[in-house]
Amino acid sequence: MPTGFLKLKRQLPKLGIGLGLRRDMAAETLEHRAQIGFLELVPENYMGVGGKAREVLLKAASAFPLISHGVNLSIGSTDELNLDYLKELKALLDEYNIAWFSDHLCFTSIEGGYLHDLLPVPFSKSTVKHIVERVKRVQDFVGRPFLLENISYYMYLPGQDMTEGEFTTEILEQADCGLLLDVNNVYVNAVNHGFDAHKFLDTLPLERVVQIHIAGHKMGKEMIIDTHGSPVIEPVYKLLDSVLRKTPVCGVLLERDQNFPDFDEIVTELAEIRKVAEKAQPELVRGDELVRAH
Ligand SMILES: [Fe+2]
Repeated sequence: MPTGFLKLKRQLPKLGIGLGLRRDMAAETLEHRAQIGFLELVPENYMGVGGKAREVLLKAASAFPLISHGVNLSIGSTDELNLDYLKELKALLDEYNIAWFSDHLCFTSIEGGYLHDLLPVPFSKSTVKHIVERVKRVQDFVGRPFLLENISYYMYLPGQDMTEGEFTTEILEQADCGLLLDVNNVYVNAVNHGFDAHKFLDTLPLERVVQIHIAGHKMGKEMIIDTHGSPVIEPVYKLLDSVLRKTPVCGVLLERDQNFPDFDEIVTELAEIRKVAEKAQPELVRGDELVRAH
């Protein structure tokens, strides 16, 4: 019996292969409508902001479907939910009629101060309870489909009584929300913590995946680091392929946040991702073509 969210997922638009809207690449991004299915914006960059940033956003909104991916919800924090933040977020989503919004399964604030880092929470039953209650309040307040993203983490916290798969599943099912599955984060965690990335995927409620993130990372001395600053590597494409064969999704997004290459390289990477999707889930890319034809 599909839950409310799973029914909702079927009604969401198929946006195809998208790119994060970043200031350093904004001008070129806006010139490549034919190669990009949708744009993902970081709402904190536009909330209460005018000037050049707003201009770019208006241009983007007139040409592309927009999706929102926030960083300051801090869903795992013990701080009260920030209602001013939620009001501004809701206003932005309403203004641009954004089909779904997402944030990370982590915390980013302590005692009202924002940390500019995605910090992991313990995988425990008490954390599940805390986060489920907050996700429900966020969804009720904002009134749009909401996704949580799996993060990369570099250590396990004390006090855990669940696996990451159990933890994520419990939260998504109890709160009845969606999953933004970052396949690069899965790969980074699998290598750093020594588990099998493909087996890990099977512990997640993949039917709840609405959007996928794909990105590159950096090899450190002892760990690999999730930088979004390098090209996507083959094993991460394999994870993408595997997920696309298991569940229908509405969008795959290339994340590039630093070490920006020539835009041609971005276009080539988008085409690579499209090639994987065409084979594994053609209806995703067909939707994208319909959108782009308008
Ligand atoms: Fe991501």
